Amino acid sequence: MKGMIFILVQDFIKETFGDEIYYEIMDRSKLQTKDPFVYPGTYPDEDLIEMVVKAAEVLKISVDDALLAFGAYFIGAMHPRHPEFFDKFDHPKDFLKSVDGVIHMEVRKLMKDTLLPSFKHHEPNENTLVLSYHSERKLHMLAHGILNGVAEQYKQHPFTIDRSKPYEKDGKEFVDFTLVFES
Ligand code: HEM
Repeated sequence: MKGMIFILVQDFIKETFGDEIYYEIMDRSKLQTKDPFVYPGTYPDEDLIEMVVKAAEVLKISVDDALLAFGAYFIGAMHPRHPEFFDKFDHPKDFLKSVDGVIHMEVRKLMKDTLLPSFKHHEPNENTLVLSYHSERKLHMLAHGILNGVAEQYKQHPFTIDRSKPYEKDGKEFVDFTLVFES
């Protein structure tokens, strides 16, 4: 996983819970990485999971809730850093339809060694968007948190989010998010 994600997890903990909690979590985390994370670096996924598990332990919340909370923070942090991805779209449906083909495609061009998830989409009707998440990392709770964050960024077009159980298709695991928009 890219250093950017590690640094944002650390920023999230510091900004939300303060330095003392941050150092407690980092002290407890047994990381393979010894040097400070840098944005373009690539680090073991296990280190990210270790930090999230230890954060959940210290904060006395579940790992799923920790991933949900970080997901929402992530998208809030992306907006000022990459306004170009958001400004193009007035509606969250159009923004989300661009994740695979535009946003993560650009990320792939900007950064080496990425392993980005896939979000296939279809629209069963005008107000509904189904996003099918697949990643070997199985971080669907993070994806759900990111979608909550998108709802926060696009408050003028509220939508509900329904998450399916993980299911298998063609030997791969997917999780479907069904989003229903009010307008
Ligand atoms: C808005 C700008 C966005 C940027 C700049 C961005 C960038 C990134 C980057 C750099 C990674 C790490 C990839 C790696 O380490 O190999 C990542 C992972 C991820 N992104 Fe995005 N992303 C954006 C929006 C979104 C949105 C809107 C969604 C969901 C709909 C999303 C879902 C995810 C998920 C779930 C992961 C975790 C990796 C995985 O599941 O395998 N991202 N993104």
